[in-house]
Amino acid sequence: MDINSETIVETERLRIRQLIEADIPALYAIFSHPEVMRYWGSPPWASITEAEGRLARVKEGYLSEENFQWGIERKADGALLGTCSLFSFNRPSRRCELGYALGRPYWGQGYMGEALQALVAYAFETLDLNRLEADIDPRNEGSAKTLERLGFQKEGLMPERWIVAGEVSDTWFYGLLRRNWQPEGR
Ligand SMILES: CC(C)(COP(=O)(O)OP(=O)(O)OC[C@H]1O[C@@H](n2cnc3c(N)ncnc32)[C@H](O)[C@@H]1OP(=O)(O)O)[C@@H](O)C(=O)NCCC(=O)NCCS
Repeated sequence: MDINSETIVETERLRIRQLIEADIPALYAIFSHPEVMRYWGSPPWASITEAEGRLARVKEGYLSEENFQWGIERKADGALLGTCSLFSFNRPSRRCELGYALGRPYWGQGYMGEALQALVAYAFETLDLNRLEADIDPRNEGSAKTLERLGFQKEGLMPERWIVAGEVSDTWFYGLLRRNWQPEGR
């Protein structure tokens, strides 16, 4: 599917699709939650205007094809569960970074693993990327487990990479090469 299709990919329970104005309240609920934002690169959103500003930048990203943040929608009821992103593309080197967040009520049900399995397949097979990267806080055990299940390798520790609201934190840098990726069930 084209990178600017409304729907990027579907799984059994989920649809990964472009974000739209109607998603603003759900985006705000996700990114204003302190537990969701505990290890994020910026503080929790403090007002709905941050959601509006984010959506405007997301739309610019779709147009420029430089940054993609998509919604993860539950097919059964249309709820926006979270988002997943491909960004920081280096086209000659056929790589980009992967980002993701799930609303607090939806944790622990395997949703992110399901969404990212499909997104990684899309990145390698449709976008023809060779390498995906992810940057996580070493304390973020759920995120580490999610990446490692997909086959990401821990490649290195980057000390004091982030300073968010005065808190300094390290990064575990992860990578997944296409040649090391094993599509589930294929
Ligand atoms: C990290 C995150 C995406 C995981 O999504 P999820 O759909 O809940 O993950 P899954 O249900 O597929 O669970 C993955 C595994 O991690 C484990 N896990 C989840 N949260 C955990 C935590 N806080 N501590 C330890 N393990 C955790 C789960 O138990 C599961 O393992 P199991 O099946 O062996 O029990 C979600 O918690 C989230 O959005 N967190 C906030 C945003 C964030 O940190 N994003 C990543 C930034 S790099």
